[in-house]
Formats: sequence, C-alpha cells, structure tokens
Amino acid sequence: MIIGVPREVKSGEQRIGLTPDKVDSVVKAGHKVIVESSAGLGAGFKDEDYTAAGAGIVPNHADVYEQADIVVKVKEPQPEEFELLREGLILYCYLHLAAEPAVTEALIKTKTIGIAYETVQEKDGSLPLLYPMSEIAGKLAAQVAARLLQSDYDGSGRLLGGVPGTEACRFIVVGGGTVGFNAALIATGLGARVTVFDRNLERLRYIEHISRGSIKGLFSTPGALSQFLARADVVVSSVLIPGAKAPKVVTREMLAGMKEKSIMIDVAIDQGGSVEGVKPTTLAKPTYRDGKVTMYAVTNIPGMVANTSSVSLSNTTYNYLIKLAQVGVDSIVREGHPLALGLNTYNGHVTHPAVAGALNHEYVPPIKAIAS
Ligand SMILES: NC(=O)c1ccc[n+]([C@@H]2O[C@H](COP(=O)([O-])OP(=O)(O)OC[C@H]3O[C@@H](n4cnc5c(N)ncnc54)[C@H](O)[C@@H]3O)[C@@H](O)[C@H]2O)c1
Repeated sequence: MIIGVPREVKSGEQRIGLTPDKVDSVVKAGHKVIVESSAGLGAGFKDEDYTAAGAGIVPNHADVYEQADIVVKVKEPQPEEFELLREGLILYCYLHLAAEPAVTEALIKTKTIGIAYETVQEKDGSLPLLYPMSEIAGKLAAQVAARLLQSDYDGSGRLLGGVPGTEACRFIVVGGGTVGFNAALIATGLGARVTVFDRNLERLRYIEHISRGSIKGLFSTPGALSQFLARADVVVSSVLIPGAKAPKVVTREMLAGMKEKSIMIDVAIDQGGSVEGVKPTTLAKPTYRDGKVTMYAVTNIPGMVANTSSVSLSNTTYNYLIKLAQVGVDSIVREGHPLALGLNTYNGHVTHPAVAGALNHEYVPPIKAIAS
C-alpha cells in the first residue's frame, strides 16, 4: 500500500503523523511511504531524514491525498482538506467526530474510511492510540496552569506549590484517567494540593495508592464538585466516555461560584467540552475570560511539544498502521482486531455506536458496513 503523510493544517499544529524512525519498518513491511515536502520541519524532521529512511517526498499537500491508499496524520481534516477526501481512501488520525459534525458529513459524503485513533480499543478496554497524547496533554495542563497563575499572564500571582509560610494552590482534577492522572502527578511534584474526582472507585484507589496518598481521590458528585471548585485555584477537566460527547460535569453555576482569576482547563474540549458553555480555543489564542474565570480550551494541546508528541504518537500508531496496511480494513473488522473499534465511517455509514449516538445518526455495525 502507499502510505501518505501530509503536513498538518490545523491552527498552530506542527506535529506530524509518522516520524522518520518508523518509516524504515513500514517500508520493510513492503509498503511505500510518501511525505509532503517540509511536513516534518515544525517537529524537527527534515525531508532528508525521511528520504534517508526510505520515504519519497512529494511537493504538494494534494499529491499525498491523491496518491495514498492510507493517509496517516494527527488531527481531523480541516475544511480546506474536505475536497481532497475520496471514496475508499483510508484516513488514519484523531477524528473526534462526536464533536465534529462537519467532518463527519465530509467523510460520509465522500465515502472516506475514517479510522479514529481515539476509539481504537484493546480487549482490556484501554485506548492505546489516545494514551500517548493524553499523557502529554495531562503533563502540559499542569505546566500551562503554573504559567497562567503568574502575574505576567494576568493570573492570581500565586506559585503553584507556594513556599514555606504561604499556601499552596488547590488543584482539582475532574476525570482521573490518563490526562487527569498525569496532570495530578506534575502538579503534586510542583507542590500543589491536588484532589482528583472520578466516578470509578478502582481508579481512585489506584491513584491514592500509587501516589502514596499525596493525591487525594474523591468520588465525583455535583455537590462535592461545587464545594471544591469554589475554593480551587486550578481545575483540569478531563472526563471521557469513549467516542461520545463529553458529559458536562462543570455547570454554569459551578463556574460562577469559582474564585477571581481561577483557571479552568477543559482538556475534554476535543470531545465537545466538559464545562457548560465552553468555547474551543487555539494554540495562538489559548484563553478567554468567562466571568471571574480564565478559560483554557485548546483542542490540540500536545501540538505545543511537536517533537515529543510526534515521536510518542508514532511509537504507538505505527505497529497498528503496519497491520492495517498488511491486511486491509475488511479483515481488521472480520477478525475483531482492536482497530475495528476505531472504524468510525465506512462507505458513507457511521460505524461507531457512540459517535452515531452523539450525532443522532444511523449506526451501521462495521461487519454490516463492509458487506454493503
Ligand atoms: N485537548 C487536547 O489537546 C487533548 C489531548 C489529549 C486528550 N484529550 C481529551 O482528554 C479527555 C480525557 O482523555 P483520557 O485519555 O484521560 O481519558 P481516560 O478514559 O483515560 O479518562 C477519563 C476518565 O474520566 C472519568 N469519567 C467519565 N465520566 C465521568 C464523570 N461524569 N465524572 C467524573 N469522572 C468521569 C473516567 O472514569 C476516566 O477515569 C478525552 O476527551 C481526550 O480526547 C484532549
């Protein structure tokens, strides 16, 4: 198969879908890799790094889409890329369709095969292709919070961990999965007083155990959340129901009850946001004020560390990519491979139940879709 790697065109996005160190394995598995010229520069990779690994360079964005059987990228296609989609093309990237009806419509209309990293699911329920970016987004959320608290960022002027004689900041995490736990770890390391809310008691037990009690885990109810949010300096919201729109765990009332210049980081914004009324922001303009609260709702946080993110993402995606290129989508579905749960659109159908539910769209099971 021909694997195409285009430049990312989303605002501020400098990651790349496949790093040069993985190209060699894909080529050795019998496939051809083409990369858009200069696509890797923002992540620290030159065209020569790709050609040395066995890839070909094509001059234009459209060349990648025209020539490739599988397009490997990072973020969902942007409106200017919709006209490049076509029947039978396999698009392998983050899609977040529950929050992106226009992208869904484009994939359906063009009969593009959409495999979404975020819903590829192993038998144990884990989300292996979401994990690496969640890990990074979580760590960055704590770094971003530390910066937004600073006076030179018009913050409350408080140091996350304080110093002896002053209070440490109260750092609340809602949703203690990969993002939430990583944010909690970094914030704890910087000395903040960290509390994680989740509805999964096993997860809370794990977090308290592994952090030796330095991170407190609390069962998430609206009442408990309201109380803690009213005293919080920073809130990181990172709840997820795979494939579905994020539940609105932070209400307008809770937001109104928060302190002046407190910070709300809605990492779940890529799934539509978990804070009532939240609006997506960009890396170029990451914050806005909602009453007393500084809102941060960037949909591609890991794009801030394009090199680490690109390498980490490809570390996980390339093995699945080789499998996909070896056997094709139909076999993936028939054998019930974890990639089959990543299949979001096929031949004009929505093939993931949570995505179909979120968009009020007819759901066609993958096994039926490949037979259609
Ligand atoms: N904005 C970005 O750049 C960016 C980057 C990476 C990930 N994300 C997003 O961050 C979100 C979290 O990802 P993750 O990998 O940490 O997911 P995860 O599945 O590892 O964790 C989600 C956690 O939320 C908990 N949860 C679900 N519903 C809840 C509720 N009502 N109240 C409290 N807890 C609840 C779950 O029990 C789970 O522990 C996803 O939406 C993901 O797409 C965004």
